[in-house]
Amino acid sequence: MCGIIGVTGASEPLRIILEGLEMLEYRGYDSAGFALVRIDGSGLWRERAAVRAQSLPELHKVATPPPGAALGAGIGHTRWATHGAPTEPNAHPHLDCGDRVAVVHNGIIENHRELASELEERGHSRSSETDTEVIAHLVEEQLADGASLDEAVRFLLGRLRGDFALALVEAKDPDTIIGTRRTSPLIAGRSDGVGLLASDISAVLGTTRELYAIEDDQVVVVRPGSITAYDRDGTEVALRPLEVSWEVQAARADGFDDFMSKEIHEQPRALADTLLGRFRSDGAIDFEELSLGPHELRRIDRVVLLGCGTSYHAGLVGRSALEAWAKLPASAEIASEFRYREPVIDDRTLVIATSQSGETVDTFHALREAKRRGAMTLVVTNVVDSLMAREADGVLYTRAGPEVGVASTKCHVAQIALLQLFALDLASLRGTLADADVSRLSGEIAHLPEAVSAAVGRFAEYELVAERLAGVNDVYFLGRGTGLPIALEGALKLKELAYVRAEAYPAGEMKHGPISLIVPGTVAVVVATRGPLYEKIHANVAEVRARGASVLAVCDEEDSTTPDLVDDVLRIPSVPEVLTPVVGVVPLQALAYAAARARGNDVDRPRNLAKVVTVE
Ligand code: AGP
Repeated sequence: MCGIIGVTGASEPLRIILEGLEMLEYRGYDSAGFALVRIDGSGLWRERAAVRAQSLPELHKVATPPPGAALGAGIGHTRWATHGAPTEPNAHPHLDCGDRVAVVHNGIIENHRELASELEERGHSRSSETDTEVIAHLVEEQLADGASLDEAVRFLLGRLRGDFALALVEAKDPDTIIGTRRTSPLIAGRSDGVGLLASDISAVLGTTRELYAIEDDQVVVVRPGSITAYDRDGTEVALRPLEVSWEVQAARADGFDDFMSKEIHEQPRALADTLLGRFRSDGAIDFEELSLGPHELRRIDRVVLLGCGTSYHAGLVGRSALEAWAKLPASAEIASEFRYREPVIDDRTLVIATSQSGETVDTFHALREAKRRGAMTLVVTNVVDSLMAREADGVLYTRAGPEVGVASTKCHVAQIALLQLFALDLASLRGTLADADVSRLSGEIAHLPEAVSAAVGRFAEYELVAERLAGVNDVYFLGRGTGLPIALEGALKLKELAYVRAEAYPAGEMKHGPISLIVPGTVAVVVATRGPLYEKIHANVAEVRARGASVLAVCDEEDSTTPDLVDDVLRIPSVPEVLTPVVGVVPLQALAYAAARARGNDVDRPRNLAKVVTVE
């Protein structure tokens, strides 16, 4: 969480910082701030604002440079609070005792308490409750001992525990920004006499497309038009260029009310791009970028799918496809739990981490743990060269374009389709499905963008059904088999956006306890897919309706039975049952979107959340 930007050598550094922060706001919006070095040597100019989800507009109001101040290098930050409430004193940048150094930070300094008490004993006074501030004071001590800023930051690498990306400026040097990272993301860029640092490429795409990766524990010195990277010993190392395929426009709301509605409407295109070039003319599946070859994939005797939130739900769909088609034992695991178990995996286990951002720290560490235990690893992610993409043995990219809305939508459908296609490829490789079945299923997956387009076309219709949720504070989402991951995703969306208690449950499990919570007026959203459990889900509908629940059902347009058994329907285009998750989530996205807007909630900046979760 948290977004960092740094710029030097620009004629309008403040504008670049503020525009960059707009693009980084999805990473956290509890507070925002910047610090710029005054060229006349009179010190740092710092401004901060902390108004939940309104911090950037508030920051703009105070972003009027002091009269006559020419500004050099600067850093900016948008925060998702971890240590210390979202208040202005806790907003970044943080300064040392003498206001000589400013630092912005993304991540967590795990040993900050120990460092803070050391610093206190040595006479430093703190002005925030954050873990970050210790960095400014540690650097202050190094500078006082004669170190340069980059040497001071190299020293920090030996003192800090945890995950972090940092950018620092010093009052006496209007040209230089120093950056470093461990696990948390940071990239560098340059163009025409300008040097940049940022948490992600969207923040700097308006200024340059010449971008470079920064590796763990490297220290980069960014000056106007130049970037130099050093390893921990101070030896200069080569920079690795990043390939940039996204356009700056792709990360803007473009006439939609918000990013979420834009991204919901982009789903057909996102899916089509994800599937583009994946099918050869002979019907075979082509994963060109996959570095795991047939020999390695044939050795697999088990698959574990890791993910968090929406990406975990995609993993559940992937699990079923791997079992059904590739006949492999498969399990889907919540990454934050998996890492701390004693998972039994070996070099014949394929561990697939699914993550839109490729940065979620829970999933990243779980993936790393799997690798440490000898598993073969694969990442399904939307972000090229992201942390997980670099860590895994193989990577498959969803090509959904930047997803900015906190609620994952277009990336989710792309993840599911890609996982299903991968399962099909494994089935073909292992000979567990006949060629004809592989071609038929591939063909059906290839048609999913059209089905999703038809579902998105019903958006207004779904929003009308959402009116049934007005004033409702508890909703059950029920599904079985193919429908269960859809129900789980629908409940997550309603919780995170509309702040409605929404519980997803396997419908068949209700009678083992939760049905006691159903009372007259309870709303249940039931996903009725027309597969082997179709009649059973109808029985479950009857059970909750008999106890007074009103039922909204997700069912396909050729389903003539379900509508007679429920109070209202969310119709989806008919696709083969096994592929329903890609299409079935669309009405539930709309339901959550409309319910959130009806309650006056900000769908792009939901309470307490951030798009990228880089803390445990
Ligand atoms: C999705 O709507 C959520 N905001 C959240 O559950 C998200 O899917 C989760 O944090 C995982 O993110 P990732 O895909 O970037 O790893």
